[in-house]
Amino acid sequence: MDEIKNKIRDIADFPEPGILFKDITPLMQSPVLLRQAVELLIAPYRNANITAVAGMEARGFIFGSLAASMLGVGFIPLRKPGKLPHTTHKVEYQLEYGETSLEIHTDAVGENDNILIVDDVLATGGTAKASCELIQLLGGNVVACVFLMELTALNGRSLLTNFNVHSVIQY
Ligand code: PRP
Repeated sequence: MDEIKNKIRDIADFPEPGILFKDITPLMQSPVLLRQAVELLIAPYRNANITAVAGMEARGFIFGSLAASMLGVGFIPLRKPGKLPHTTHKVEYQLEYGETSLEIHTDAVGENDNILIVDDVLATGGTAKASCELIQLLGGNVVACVFLMELTALNGRSLLTNFNVHSVIQY
């Protein structure tokens, strides 16, 4: 775990003054530690009959795609507005620094799908809550939301009390 933590570096005042950004690019440069990190991310849900993984743009695509591959299931991209080409549903939400929305293709989730939601960071929880709502809008079952990192001071879990939440590293 310490080896993984050592590959995540702090960048002060990014993307705005006062934000301490957790940069995962050094972790991504290590194939062994990156794989270990994703193993820890999905470990509690290996036998949970997950039928697809959903990941949020942009860094959720990295961990989500790896998680989907390691679980042997498909990947559903949850994208920023205007990026998905087919028919979409949208949920708007507050971010730690600003306001935005996420979209999903309306045919991305089936009624009986068991979805694992994957992202790099749980901060205020707005992104994850919007992601859960998108999956549920389409009739999918959110098995859990999993994060490489959780910024506990921002109490994102308080927005996700209806869902299982798992994080690998807590700050
Ligand atoms: C970051 C991060 C999470 C989200 C967490 O993404 O990757 O998706 O913020 O914040 P929250 O818990 O307060 O909602 P960001 O919107 O910066 O997008 P990016 O990955 O494209 O940089």
